Amino acid sequence: MSERPEIIHYFGAGPALLPNDVLKQAAADLINYQGTGLGLGELSHRSAPAIAVVDSAKESVKKLLDVPDSHEVCFLQSGGTGEFSALVYNLLAAHAKKTGKKGIANYLVTGSWSQKAAEEAKRLGADVNVAVNAKINGKYGTIPPPSEWSLSPPEQTAYVYYCDNETVNGVEFGYIPPVPEGVELVSDMSSNIMSRKVDVSKFGAIFAGVQKNIGIAGATVVIIKKSLLEKPADSELVALGIPLAPIVFDFATIAKNNSLYNTLPIFNVHIVSLTLARLLKNGGIPVQQVISGRKAEKLYMALDSATEGVYMLPVAKEVRSRMNIVFTIPGEGREKAFLEGAKKKGMTGLSGHRSVGGIRISSYNAVSEQSIDLLVDYINDFAKTI
Ligand SMILES: Cc1ncc(COP(=O)(O)O)c(C=O)c1O
Repeated sequence: MSERPEIIHYFGAGPALLPNDVLKQAAADLINYQGTGLGLGELSHRSAPAIAVVDSAKESVKKLLDVPDSHEVCFLQSGGTGEFSALVYNLLAAHAKKTGKKGIANYLVTGSWSQKAAEEAKRLGADVNVAVNAKINGKYGTIPPPSEWSLSPPEQTAYVYYCDNETVNGVEFGYIPPVPEGVELVSDMSSNIMSRKVDVSKFGAIFAGVQKNIGIAGATVVIIKKSLLEKPADSELVALGIPLAPIVFDFATIAKNNSLYNTLPIFNVHIVSLTLARLLKNGGIPVQQVISGRKAEKLYMALDSATEGVYMLPVAKEVRSRMNIVFTIPGEGREKAFLEGAKKKGMTGLSGHRSVGGIRISSYNAVSEQSIDLLVDYINDFAKTI
C-alpha cells in the first residue's frame, strides 16, 4: 500500500482531509475486519460486527455531543441534500400529529445551502416562510439580528430551519437561534459538527453529511427528538396536503430499525466511528473547540493585518466562519498567483466555491495547526509581494 506524508496541507471544503491513523485503520478493515477474513464492505449490514459499528458510532455521537435521552441518533445515506427533503416530510408530519394542521416551514436563509434547503421545501409543497433572507446585492455575508426575523406565529410553525455554518459563503452562527417555546429548531451542521459544543436539547433535529469533519461521503448523521417520530396515518397526511416521506427518509422507520431498515454503508459509518473515537481520546469537543477557534483566529489575524486592500473579507466580523474562511484578492491574476504559490509549498484545496470564486480555506478538524501555521506565513509573505 502506498504511504502518504504524516501531514498533508489540504484545505478542501469537502470531501475533506481525514486523520492518517483513521484512514490506515479503515484501509486495513476494508480488507479484513477484525480477523473475520472479510472486509467491512463485504459483511452483511445485519451481522453482529456491522451492528456493533453502528452502535459504536451512535454511542460516540451521544458522548461527544452529550445527546440527551429525549433524542435519537440515526445514520442515513441521504447526504446533506437528502436531509433538505427528509426534514420537510418528517417535521411537517410531526407538527400535523400535534396540531392536526399543516404547519408553516420557516427558513433563515443566510447562505447558499439554506437557500437550497428552502427551495427544496417549496418544491415538495411545504408552505414556506423565509423569515430571514440575508442576501444583500446578490451576496451573503451577514446574519440579521433575531429582532429582524419574521417568523410565522408559533402555533402555526412546523419548524424553524437554519444552516449553522454556510460552507460556501463562510458565514457561521455564533449562537443558537432563539425560537418561541414549543417551536422546533432544525439545523444543518454539515460543515461544523464536532467542532464546538452544542446544546442538543434545544433542537428538534440536527443533521450533518459526514464528509467534512468526521468521515467520507455516503453517510449522514441525524439527531432527532424522539417525540417528533410520532406522525399521523398516511391517509391523514395526504388529506392535509403533506407529502409522504419515501420510506428511506422516514425517521420513525429508520430509528425503529437502528438505522438498518435498508443497507447502510457500514464502512462509511465505521470511518465516522474511528474518527469520533479518536476525537474522544484526544479530549473531545472542549479540546477541539479551542483548537478550531485558535486556527481560525490565526488565519483571520493574518488576513486582517495585511496591508489594506490586499485581502478582502466579505463576511461581517461577528459571523465569520471558523471552518470556511473566505476572501478575495483584488487585482488581475493575483488569486491565480496566490493559488499557484501555495501549491508550490504543498498547500492545495484553496479555490473558492465555483459559485462565488475567490479563495476559501477550510479548516476542519483534521487540518493540523502546522498546516495553518504554514498557510499563515504564506498569507503574510504573499501580501508583501503586492
Ligand atoms: C452546509 C452544507 N449543507 C449541505 C450540503 C450538501 O451535502 P451533500 O453534498 O452531502 O448533499 C453541503 C455540501 O457541501 C454543505 O456544506
